[in-house]
Amino acid sequence: MHKVIEDLNWRYATKKFDPSKKISTSDIEVIKESLRLTASSYGLQPNHFLIIENVSLREELVPASYGQQQVLEASHLIVICAYNDLTEQHVDTYVESIISTRNSDPDRVKNYGDFIKKTFAEMSNEDKLTWASKQAYIVMGQLLHTCATLRIDSTPMEGFIPERYSDILDLKDKHLTPILVCPIGYRHEEDATQHLGKVRKDQTDLFDIIK
Ligand SMILES: Cc1cc2nc3c(=O)[nH]c(=O)nc-3n(C[C@H](O)[C@H](O)[C@H](O)COP(=O)(O)O)c2cc1C
Repeated sequence: MHKVIEDLNWRYATKKFDPSKKISTSDIEVIKESLRLTASSYGLQPNHFLIIENVSLREELVPASYGQQQVLEASHLIVICAYNDLTEQHVDTYVESIISTRNSDPDRVKNYGDFIKKTFAEMSNEDKLTWASKQAYIVMGQLLHTCATLRIDSTPMEGFIPERYSDILDLKDKHLTPILVCPIGYRHEEDATQHLGKVRKDQTDLFDIIK
């Protein structure tokens, strides 16, 4: 079996983590770099991440996660946020970064920036947050795969109350909205879910191959 398929079969949405097992600093660094390298629309990276080890904070987050204990029992909790104040400043910072990284013609890159700004100007704040949230889901996909490659367990989670997370984590002043959370760590041997088969559609139901 191909390594990619092996990794993807190995992972599952972990229901019970072993709280005694902690992810190494070097693996956390790989995960951070994977998050940094995730593709985003325009390349604007409208997301920000909290990587929470603090246990008392995570205890507070359990009730805000409908009682899901993974938030507390995992080694780390990643909160994927989206900026809810996408401004021209974000675009200008990005434009400067392209110019300095690629030594690009400033006028050409500024035109690209103006194009992005024009697109945003036509969107409501709600639309912009929806757009930034979609980028968060792309990050989640990459995070799950990276963790599986490292043989680190994970649980993609929408099951939490964003307002409560915002308050507990003091996100409002930072203009961040929590979109998804992902506890990461190591499965508990008692987690029965790990033994269940993968429930997925057949390929014939998923693909039309057009030649
Ligand atoms: C966006 C998203 C949100 C999810 N939210 C939760 C959640 O809050 N709690 C949970 O236990 N599982 C959650 N899941 C896990 C799914 O139920 C799981 O991925 C799906 O049933 C497929 O199973 P598998 O990931 O174990 O292969 C979520 C998955 C995704 C992709």
